[in-house]
Amino acid sequence: MLDGTHDATEIEAIEGTLRTDAFVHDPYATLDRLRELDPVHWSESIGGWLLTRYDDVLATFKNTADFSNEGRLGRASEYLPAEARGRLAAFEAHYRTKGLLHSDPPDHTRLRRLVLRAFSPRVIESMRPRIQRIVDDLLDKVQADGRMEVIDELASALPVTVLAELLGVPASHGQQFRAWADDLLAFQGVNRPDETVLLAAQQALLAVRAYLTGLIEDRRRAPGEDLISMLTATTDDGESLTDDEIINTGVTLLTAGHETTTSLIGNGLFTLLSHPDQWHAVRADPALIKPFLEEALRYESPVSRQPRIVTRDIELRGRTLRAGQLAFQMLGAANRDPSRFSEPATFDITRSPNRHIAFGQGIHFCIGAPLSRTEGEVVFAAIIERLPRIRLVSAEPTWDVRKANSRVLCSLPVTF
Ligand code: HEM
Repeated sequence: MLDGTHDATEIEAIEGTLRTDAFVHDPYATLDRLRELDPVHWSESIGGWLLTRYDDVLATFKNTADFSNEGRLGRASEYLPAEARGRLAAFEAHYRTKGLLHSDPPDHTRLRRLVLRAFSPRVIESMRPRIQRIVDDLLDKVQADGRMEVIDELASALPVTVLAELLGVPASHGQQFRAWADDLLAFQGVNRPDETVLLAAQQALLAVRAYLTGLIEDRRRAPGEDLISMLTATTDDGESLTDDEIINTGVTLLTAGHETTTSLIGNGLFTLLSHPDQWHAVRADPALIKPFLEEALRYESPVSRQPRIVTRDIELRGRTLRAGQLAFQMLGAANRDPSRFSEPATFDITRSPNRHIAFGQGIHFCIGAPLSRTEGEVVFAAIIERLPRIRLVSAEPTWDVRKANSRVLCSLPVTF
């Protein structure tokens, strides 16, 4: 047992590593120590409280009054000098508008009810044949080569093409969505991002806003079966979304639905092929694909941390969180909490129960969870069927060190 002085020294040493590439490459041992020694940790380098215990993360997901989602991205430039903030006026204005992810009840309740229409189980299940076709097309392109770079050619290409399908626009627009999403994600989770990163995000934001504004006008004139048509429609009770709310939600769908699904496929495939016994088990019994996907979500959670704004001074495990501070729900750490998962560092596709919180919990629970699970099921069934000899080119993963909130690979070359 360490004494208090040793603990303080170790916590200080841990704090010094949190912004390093080494931490991104292998965060789990450090997070385990933090969860043990200082589960509600003030991180000066990240600029907020880090909550690493499953129970605390779950409790804050449920306590939306004290841990708010409103305005959390609108603060990204608050430390910049006034004239720089002036140049980012459009950026700040966007994130001040309420959207599905950026609102608390009662606004969130109304927005979610309206957006859920477009993500009903019926709508998502009807997407399955289209997802299958997209996956088949992507694999057709590489099958004869005997090799592919999974992130670029499959894991990232699939969700942006699916989003194009959802929006009812040509698949070729997917490439543009990907570039916009990358610029929009580059500032998120970065403590004090520099002005160039924020200006690039603003430019992408303006472009997406213009794109969505055009789509909304089109669909108001001639509604179809697509997502924007559903979002512009008025319900039988006369409820509807404003254009700004649709645009804010559209931007969220682009950022929340793209890289996360890329991670699920990339992290899942990397982990599976790194555990040959489990890969052989899934290959022999595709019914294991579903539990495998859940274990991949737990073991390498795509969203590694999620910010909340503390709304009033509040005590948590002897610490005082002050109103206005950020609290980060460390999902990757929570999903490996030994008080909730036995042998949490073991990748076990038969784990049951597996109550991971990779999709969040409570009122903001991921609206795209059924869609990304469907994408995962189709992709892994296709890999088993068409690429049974698939192998990693390198056993060393290349985690993307630029994305502070996510756990995603830069590339994943394989042969088959
Ligand atoms: C919310 C993770 C895929 C759209 C969330 C949240 C998490 C998450 C952790 C909760 C955020 C919070 O509480 O602040 C994931 C993961 C995915 C994934 C791990 C893939 C494996 C998708 C997809 C879409 C999507 C495919 C849509 C195309 C959303 C939206 C919300 C959300 C709109 C906000 C819901 C609300 O605020 O009510 N997601 N997501 N996500 N996700 Fe996902």
